[in-house]
Amino acid sequence: MNIIVIGSGGREHAVIKKLKESPLCGTIYALPGNGGMADDAVCVPIKATDIEAIAEYAVSNNIDYAVVTPDDPLVLGCVDALEAKGIKCFGPRANAAIIEGSKVFSKNLMKKYGIPTAAYETFDNAQAALDYLESAKTPIVIKADGLALGKGVIIAQNKEEAREAVISIMEDKKFGASGNHIVIEEFMTGPEVSVLAFTDGKCVKPMVSSMDHKRALDNDEGLNTGGMGTVAPNPYYTKSVANECMDKIFIPTMNAMNTEGRTFKGCLYFGLMITPDGPKVVEYNCRFGDPETQVVLPLLESDLLEIMLAVTNGTLTDTEVKISEKSACCVIMASEGYPVSYEKGFEIEADDEVKKDIYFAGAKLAGGKLLTDGGRVLGVTSVADTLEEAIAASYKKAEKIRFSNAFYRHDIGKRALEAGKE
Ligand code: AMP
Ligand code: GLY
Repeated sequence: MNIIVIGSGGREHAVIKKLKESPLCGTIYALPGNGGMADDAVCVPIKATDIEAIAEYAVSNNIDYAVVTPDDPLVLGCVDALEAKGIKCFGPRANAAIIEGSKVFSKNLMKKYGIPTAAYETFDNAQAALDYLESAKTPIVIKADGLALGKGVIIAQNKEEAREAVISIMEDKKFGASGNHIVIEEFMTGPEVSVLAFTDGKCVKPMVSSMDHKRALDNDEGLNTGGMGTVAPNPYYTKSVANECMDKIFIPTMNAMNTEGRTFKGCLYFGLMITPDGPKVVEYNCRFGDPETQVVLPLLESDLLEIMLAVTNGTLTDTEVKISEKSACCVIMASEGYPVSYEKGFEIEADDEVKKDIYFAGAKLAGGKLLTDGGRVLGVTSVADTLEEAIAASYKKAEKIRFSNAFYRHDIGKRALEAGKE
């Protein structure tokens, strides 16, 4: 089967490497991909949001299957456009991708169907939001409705910060039209867990749980980023928490989307917080997480392509999703200055032994050399019998990867190790 994978990050590289293990897999084309993936896929310079060009490419190049991974093309209807041309896809249609595309939609869905989440109010008028804040408790969380490159969430410690957040989102349009509507919600506490689950609208089959590290610096200091590293499994996601999530969150979410006439087919990402009152949904994503995928897929023992096809065909119930008992750690190597400003264009050097465990994100090929080309440059993953060994192995590999201005956190997995010893 010839496959297109839409997207260009480390997550897409992880998906591509896993797909390649399948005997059903033919040539993979990455649209647009990045130079670091060139050994694994044919990179085609078409932007992930150029839906018309993607559909045209698929039709004129004998593509059998499309895997749409990033949020924006999914929300924009990339799957709908490809299906209209007769191309089978992995990923939700736009009417289901709205579960990530609109926080007002997802919060109202959870309220309507009794799915546990933070208490909230929605606003489409700044003055009404400011009035509401007068009597609200702090800390409090302000969220822009639409996609905002993962940055549309502000945790306000006091009323002044909350008022500033409302004004910056709704009046100054810090996140553009994403801020026409906002959600103001209760601040929850507890450890966070990411669960990526396959669903075809008939059943939900989760993969291994994971833990992201979103802050730029050690000890969860510094700015929020796209993710500086991940470990799996997440020790806070015990068997009993998993059972509770299945009964109260995963199945009810699938059923709710079906009832709304918005059947979700693809990978549904549950961002969960294990609060003193039990697990609650922080957010839904309509896709694989980045960099969660870089630890979750290496622990998937079943054939990814077979699972994806089963999701597409509605036969997931009969398809095994087998998860390894091992642990994984991914350390992200970024350009110094990320997530604000940074230099790029430096040569990336790594020997072949380490290279096979790298998922490239911000890299490009120029004159036969691989150069840095973004904030998050790459992730290096290790799988081992214990989390401790996986972490140690990833850091050992990171030391062997060289590029000017490289930086990475030194405490990925530390909290998970401590939790595991509690
Ligand atoms: P999101 O983009 O919705 O994942 O939010 C980004 C991060 O903000 C989450 O991973 C949480 O750490 C934090 N967050 C979001 N909503 C809440 C909440 N209601 N209470 C506490 N923290 C939150
Ligand atoms: N790692 C969080 C996300 O993919 O949105």
